[in-house]
Amino acid sequence: MDGNGRWAKRRGLPRTMGHRKGVEAVRETVQAAGEAGVRYLTLFAFSSENWNRPEEEITDLMGLLKLFIRRDLAELHKENIRIRVIGGRARLDREILGLLVEAEELTRNNSAMHLVIAFNYGGRDEIVRAAKRLAEAVGRGELSPANVNEHTLSAFLDTAGIPDPDVIIRTSGEQRLSNFLLWQAAYTEFVFVPVLWPDFDKSAFHRALDEYASRERRFGAVPERDVALGS
Ligand code: IPE
Ligand code: MG
Repeated sequence: MDGNGRWAKRRGLPRTMGHRKGVEAVRETVQAAGEAGVRYLTLFAFSSENWNRPEEEITDLMGLLKLFIRRDLAELHKENIRIRVIGGRARLDREILGLLVEAEELTRNNSAMHLVIAFNYGGRDEIVRAAKRLAEAVGRGELSPANVNEHTLSAFLDTAGIPDPDVIIRTSGEQRLSNFLLWQAAYTEFVFVPVLWPDFDKSAFHRALDEYASRERRFGAVPERDVALGS
């Protein structure tokens, strides 16, 4: 979700107004994804690098997450949506932590769609934390180094049990991964859209899905038809 600041700047508004409008885009996207039959929707809400922003903007983004959970949790639960949070927990304040745990606990048996919130998330940070816990498991003798493979490492990531993303959509015209789901994105399709996040809506979401649907995914193999033709 990128472009909140630019959206506000273009209107001569403070950045915070862009973030506020961005929450509305979140609501619309969650709804659109549910209707489209998406099973897992991950939103990159706050990166481990976003701590470098001015303090008042950080406070504002934290406040918006709290507000979102307080206001929308009941509705998301009613929609049978399961919430999961990925990212480091160490730096988050107690109030945020409490709300995140509450959202995960309340919705843990829901099954319509998984809404994964990446908060204080960074792909490298996630891999480092996983490596640490894996090393601890080895140290305790629960895991042998010979059994460390992609599968066992994956189980230590925040995304354990969540399938790798089929597609990552980035708004605002930036064409970077910016430390999002580094490990999980090995074979993900990337769709970059020029729309600024606060303007992202159902039609922009469907355009991005159409773009994804037009891609041919080979996962390092050759297309079936070429195998059949022997070419
Ligand atoms: C939203 O957009 C990203 C979040 C941290 C939620 P930005 O705040 O990065 O907006 P730009 O890139 O300055 O336009
Ligand atoms: Mg940005």
